[in-house]
Amino acid sequence: MSDYPSALPETGRDATELLADIAAGRETDLDWKSGRAFSLVYNAADDDLETLQHEVANLFLHDNALNPMAYPSLQAMEQSIVAMSADLFGTDARSGALTSGGTESIFCAVQVARDYARQVLGKPEPSIVIPSTAHPAFDKAAKYLDIEVHRIPVGPDGRADVVATAAAIADNTAMLVGSAPCYPYGVIDAITDLGALAQDAGILCHVDACLGGWLLPFWAANGQDVPEWTFEVEGVTSLSADIHKYGYGYKGASVVMYRDRSLLKFQFFSFDDWPGGFYGSATPAGTRPAPPIAGAWATLVHLGREGLQAKAADVLAATQRLVSFLDATDGIDVLRRPEMSVVLFGTTDPANNEALATALHGNRADRSDFESASRSIPGTGWKVDVQQEGLHLMISPGHLAVMADFEAAITAALATISTTQPTQTPTNQSRYADRAI
Ligand SMILES: Cc1ncc(COP(=O)(O)O)c(C=O)c1O
Repeated sequence: MSDYPSALPETGRDATELLADIAAGRETDLDWKSGRAFSLVYNAADDDLETLQHEVANLFLHDNALNPMAYPSLQAMEQSIVAMSADLFGTDARSGALTSGGTESIFCAVQVARDYARQVLGKPEPSIVIPSTAHPAFDKAAKYLDIEVHRIPVGPDGRADVVATAAAIADNTAMLVGSAPCYPYGVIDAITDLGALAQDAGILCHVDACLGGWLLPFWAANGQDVPEWTFEVEGVTSLSADIHKYGYGYKGASVVMYRDRSLLKFQFFSFDDWPGGFYGSATPAGTRPAPPIAGAWATLVHLGREGLQAKAADVLAATQRLVSFLDATDGIDVLRRPEMSVVLFGTTDPANNEALATALHGNRADRSDFESASRSIPGTGWKVDVQQEGLHLMISPGHLAVMADFEAAITAALATISTTQPTQTPTNQSRYADRAI
């Protein structure tokens, strides 16, 4: 096991020895390549893609995207990613920006909403209205940007409650938010209704498609019924879509896109009163690592629509198989009908969810508590996340090959716990129930 010094060592260590120690330390890290992890890494199960990504990351390892003019190739890749995103989501080729991830994309959209509200709508103290299922990145952004967030409880189907959202729109509301889909339940908010509400109120509407942005178009291409959620919906003014999720780029790549480039301009920062010269940037970061930009571009161009559709087909097949298994398993309830690749399920007696997760995690004596389970701390087995209502999984292409093993693990785990008490499960009274897989 590696020694992790708490003060800078007086003398440096030999690289070979250090690498061996680092590799040994990695043994307890999340092992996503086994297909046993259901969050954090979206396992494309694609050796060629991985080799390409390693080579591209190495090529750009030391470069700095702070000044795109210094790297015409990197700048071309970044512009190409934004243009490809615009093409996929239906907006102008220059109306977006590449960011480091979903949280940064959401930060940008909230900052644009704040400044648009102040400068165009004449709302000096703007607020945003979001469903209770929206990602905490909105609250984080609001904290940094000093604006209010109103979280509205979702309806019985887990989707944004459109009537309650309408009622929550106040004089200072700058933006409504919907998710496609939301992380906790994997269901897609009624974006057409939210867009219409925003348009009527003359405010902005952001779609958080960090999770679904690069999967839903290919879900539809695989014959699934996907409700409208992109700029084709009237009233949608911005959206976020992470390439480092279902676009299969490695970490550090997302896009924030706008219906109109005039909105993107609220994001730009420039400063020309500095002895260090003119300074400008389109996103919060200054120095930016180049590998995620080059890696995201190479990934999207290598896979193309065909590759992304094929990966979506694997995700769909794995999700459908798992949901059928869970539906047929006594003692298990699927708590929300998945509309994409997020599966929330639990034991019929919710008190046993923790025990099920622990059994799946592999019962490591030191890591078998509920807290550990909920944080995906490595055990010897399957890494499932535990939420308030149940066990949460995000399915990747790499899960298709191991799904039979996972089903066997669930059966074995269930046999170790008691599932005797009946319980109430949330009903899915969705008007979209027919599009659930
Ligand atoms: C719906 C949704 N929005 C935003 C985010 C935040 O993305 P990131 O962790 O890349 O900042 C996530 C992350 O899982 C998400 O699922």
